[in-house]
Formats: sequence, C-alpha cells, structure tokens
Amino acid sequence: MFQHDLLAGKVIVITGGGTGLGRAIGERYLELGAKLAITSRREDVLREAAAQMSAAGGEVFYVPCDVRDPNQVSAMVDAVMERYGKIDVLVNNAAGNFVSPTEKLSTRAFDAVIGIVLHGTVHCTLEVGKRWIAAGVGGAMLNIVATYASSGAGSGYVVPSAVAKSGVLALTRSLAVEWAKYGIRQVAIAPGLFPTEGAWSRLVPTAELAERIVERVPLRRVGEKRELCNLAAYLISDEAAYINGEVVVIDGGEWLRGAGQFNDLERLTEQEWATLSAMAKR
Ligand code: HXC
Ligand code: NAP
Repeated sequence: MFQHDLLAGKVIVITGGGTGLGRAIGERYLELGAKLAITSRREDVLREAAAQMSAAGGEVFYVPCDVRDPNQVSAMVDAVMERYGKIDVLVNNAAGNFVSPTEKLSTRAFDAVIGIVLHGTVHCTLEVGKRWIAAGVGGAMLNIVATYASSGAGSGYVVPSAVAKSGVLALTRSLAVEWAKYGIRQVAIAPGLFPTEGAWSRLVPTAELAERIVERVPLRRVGEKRELCNLAAYLISDEAAYINGEVVVIDGGEWLRGAGQFNDLERLTEQEWATLSAMAKR
C-alpha cells in the first residue's frame, strides 16, 4: 500500500500506545520507518509493549504518564525530546469509556472520562504545539474520536465519552485553522467497531452484544486493525499535507445505517417486499 520509507525519520508520540489500536497504529508506523514514543499510565504494559514492538526492528521509547496531569505531560514531552531531539507527530489516542445509564453516573465518573479524553488531549496538544510554535517547526496531530462525535449525534449510555470526543473534534477543527500558519496540521479518525480488549471489556462485554452490534454495520463485519492503521499512516504522512481539519470515518457505513429513516427496511423478506410494493402502488 505504501512506500516502505513513508514515515522514515519521523518521531511519533502515541498516547495509549501500549495497547489496542494505539499499539497497532504504532506497529504500522514502525514498519514504515518511524521512531516511536509510547505513553500511558501503566509502566509494565508500556515496557512489555515496547520490547515486543521493537523486536522486529525500530526504536520504541516509553514514558509513563497520566495525560490528565499537565505536569506529567510536560515531563513526558521533555523525556521524548531528550531521547530523540524532536517530535514530528502527536497521536492523541488515550481514552477512557464505559456504558452506563447517565443518571447513575457520579460526577467523579464523568470527570474520569472527560479528564482522560478531553483534558488529556488538550494537555498533550498544548504541550507539543507550544514547543513547535516556539521552535518554528511544524507537525501533524492525529486525534482518535468516535462516530458519535463525527456524526454530531452523540450517543446515550456513553455520554461522558460523547461529550469529550465532541470536544476533541471541536479542538481539531478550531486549531486546524488557528495553527495552520505555524505549519501545524490537525486530522482525526472516527473508528467504528474495532474489537480491542480495552473497549470490548467495557462496552461490549457479552458475545450476544458483540453479535448484535455487527448487525448494525452494512458491511456486516467489524473493522480490521490494519485498515485503520493504513488510514492513520496516510493521514500523518507528508502525502496528506493538504488535509487539515478533516475527520475521516472508518466504520463500514455503520453510522449512516442508523441515520437513514428507511434503512430498517433491509430486514424485509422478498415476500414482504412483494406485498409492500403491491400495497404502495394502489
Ligand atoms: C459507572 C463507573 C464505571 C462504570 C468507573 N466508574 N467505571 N461508573 N459505570 N462502568 C466510576 C467510579 O465508580 C468512580 O466514581 C469514577 O468512575 C472513577 O473510577 P476509577 O476506577 O477511580 O477511575 P480511573 O482509575 O481513573 O479509571 C478510568 C476509567 C477506566 C475510565 C473508569 O475504565 C479506565 O482506566 N479506562 C481506560 C481504558 C478504556 O476505557 N478503554 C476503552 C476506550 S474505548 P465514584 O463516584 O464511585 O468514585 C472507546 C471506544 C468508543 O472509547 C466507541 C466504541 C465502539
Ligand atoms: P484501549 O486499548 O483501552 O486504549 C486506551 C489506552 O488509553 C490504554 O493504552 C490506556 O493505557 C490509555 N489511557 C487511559 N487513561 C489514560 C491516562 N489517564 N493517561 C494516559 N493514558 C491513558 O482501547 P482502544 O479500543 O485501543 O481505544 C483506542 C482509541 O480508539 C480510543 O481513543 C478510543 O476512544 C478509540 N476508539 C476505539 C474504538 C474501538 O472500536 N476499539 C471505536 C471508536 C473509538 P493505561 O491504562 O496504561 O493508561
């Protein structure tokens, strides 16, 4: 799909880069020649991921950091700068989420998700962006959101995440305009269903639920990580230099399936269609 040196020489920071989609994206970036810095709260997870990811070649530096704390974010960026001397790309991928009736949530529960997703993204974006601006260098920022943000529809039962991801999308679009003059590009991806341990354990905990959600997808399957990773590679590469402020949905058509008023008619059998058509012609 790509030239093998597409990302050669680029230093890329991925928050939440030790697990799930963040790790998969990092592995693809490594294959394409990038040097990585991965960060999240759990040092043991990062250590093991960095060792496994770099086994096939390439540099993976890890720094434990809770993105909710701006001081830890600043120290994390210091550590990456000390190691590599520069940062070219920031991927804001770290997130927290769970399903719950909203009226049952405590304020601490809301804060837990908004702190990671919205404040965490703001902290990393500002810390890296201010340094790029001061140094007179540009870069690209990729934010991982969700289709309930990109569609503008939000979603019940994941309201803290819907609120936070919508904020991240507003940040993406606002800074796409404001920071373009500094050579800083903002892009986002809204993934549909990509099974990971972190997301599925909290959002799709039973086999029955997992089966039911796939029925919502016109392509009748979940996404494959490599499909998302190739998009994530293209968007931060120099080949996508004119894409700024865009959010790309990769969901097999899932959100549109929910949007069209008559899309449920796909459940009708041939016989039911024959009856319906005959009635409609009267
Ligand atoms: C209701 C909950 C809850 C739940 C926690 N809380 N889980 N409330 N339902 N399932 C409440 C707690 O009771 C507490 O409030 C408050 O939230 C903080 O909980 P802690 O456990 O202290 O928080 P913390 O250790 O900071 O953990 C954050 C977390 C956790 C978000 C709760 O799940 C986490 O670390 N997640 C990181 C990974 C993750 O979520 N990955 C999935 C991303 S998937 P009280 O008032 O009791 O003190 C994703 C996909 C979107 O975003 C789309 C998919 C299709
Ligand atoms: P995941 O494996 O649970 O990833 C979440 C990551 O965030 C973990 O590595 C976690 O590591 C890190 N993290 C959480 N809180 C943090 C904090 N305070 N500071 C630093 N790092 C923190 O789930 P995933 O499915 O790969 O999700 C990755 C991204 O894709 C998220 O933005 C998610 O919203 C988005 N997404 C996923 C799907 C899907 O279908 N999987 C769909 C739509 C959007 P620690 O616990 O070590 O901190």
